[in-house]
Amino acid sequence: MDFIDDELAQLKRDGLYRELKIIEGGQGARVRIGGREVILLSSNNYLGLASHPEIKKAAVSAIEKYGCGSGASRLISGSMELHKELEEKIASFKKTESAILFNSGYTANLGVISSICGKGDVIFSDKLNHASIIDGCLLSGAELKRYPHKDIDALERFLKKSSGFKKRLIVTDGIFSMDGDIAPLKEIVHLSKRYSAILMVDDAHATGVFGKNGRGTGEYFGLDDGIDIIMGTLSKAVGSFGGFVAGRKKLIEFLINRARSFIYTTSLPPSVIASSLAAIDIIERGDDLRDSLWKNVSYLKDGLKDMGFDIMGSESQIIPVFVGDTHRTVEMSQMLLKEGAFVQGIRPPTVPQGKSRLRVTVMATHSKADIDAALKSFKKTGKKLKIV
Ligand SMILES: Cc1ncc(COP(=O)(O)O)c(C=O)c1O
Repeated sequence: MDFIDDELAQLKRDGLYRELKIIEGGQGARVRIGGREVILLSSNNYLGLASHPEIKKAAVSAIEKYGCGSGASRLISGSMELHKELEEKIASFKKTESAILFNSGYTANLGVISSICGKGDVIFSDKLNHASIIDGCLLSGAELKRYPHKDIDALERFLKKSSGFKKRLIVTDGIFSMDGDIAPLKEIVHLSKRYSAILMVDDAHATGVFGKNGRGTGEYFGLDDGIDIIMGTLSKAVGSFGGFVAGRKKLIEFLINRARSFIYTTSLPPSVIASSLAAIDIIERGDDLRDSLWKNVSYLKDGLKDMGFDIMGSESQIIPVFVGDTHRTVEMSQMLLKEGAFVQGIRPPTVPQGKSRLRVTVMATHSKADIDAALKSFKKTGKKLKIV
């Protein structure tokens, strides 16, 4: 087991060693770390729903009615009426014929991609797609072509040369998780039709947030019919847990029969399903939370840009603050925490070499005072480290 010491020491030398930061208490716009209250700017709980009283109540009621565990996988005896209700709700929310739950967004991507594609097929994947997409592609055994980030011409060049493959799958994040920019979906839909490719969009960061009704990037671009496979997660803006795929009935029927990460695992527990149901109700009911989120996003972005930080073309609630060097990224994150703002540094392999950054995420529940305080901390640390 000596290799472990060697690898850990190397990670430390490279500024790539990672440690868990423990949140004392619940998730909110402010959290406690090491006995101190700090502003949380690293959570995907964009609408603050993870601790919403209505959702907590729904989870508690579900435990009282249904118990804690589901006891089996979906195809054995773990399909409860709540799972069916949530799948129907997701389909109606996403305006698709049907939907299927997975135990996380990660396992959704693994299951879908590896069951849709195999040897003899080809997958075109944006270079900055999430790790779970990459893992799904690798697991499938299909030929993988990674096109430069959002480069439609490069994607078309690949597609032009793909006639020898059985199936073609284009897969892209809707909102890119570490860069916060939006995929050029209109152009991608056009190419998928032109070259008879299946199109899959991972809307993990757009669900609940993008589009007039929070239905995601499809709604945002007015492309409800153009996307064959809509994947998402209930663990970010929905504030609960679990992943899903929405699409045509036959796709869902196929996944029930073929997606191994759906088949061979115990289903999500009732409390989690009830939380998701209550959260989607809130998301569907009104845009107040989305309005607050976008106000906060603009205010924080303007503040960071005015100070001279490079926010790398963010177009969403995910705001990368470019640092570059791994060690400096860690240092800045630590200094910000001392100043009262919790912002995680993101380093390779999550982002490319030389592109380390602080990944700032805004929540609807941050107050103006929270954001003002965060900006003050950024100014102080950015100046000290000569980043601005
Ligand atoms: C783009 C993207 N897809 C998928 C996932 C995985 O979702 P989950 O956290 O539900 O496993 C994430 C986040 O972790 C993500 O950012």
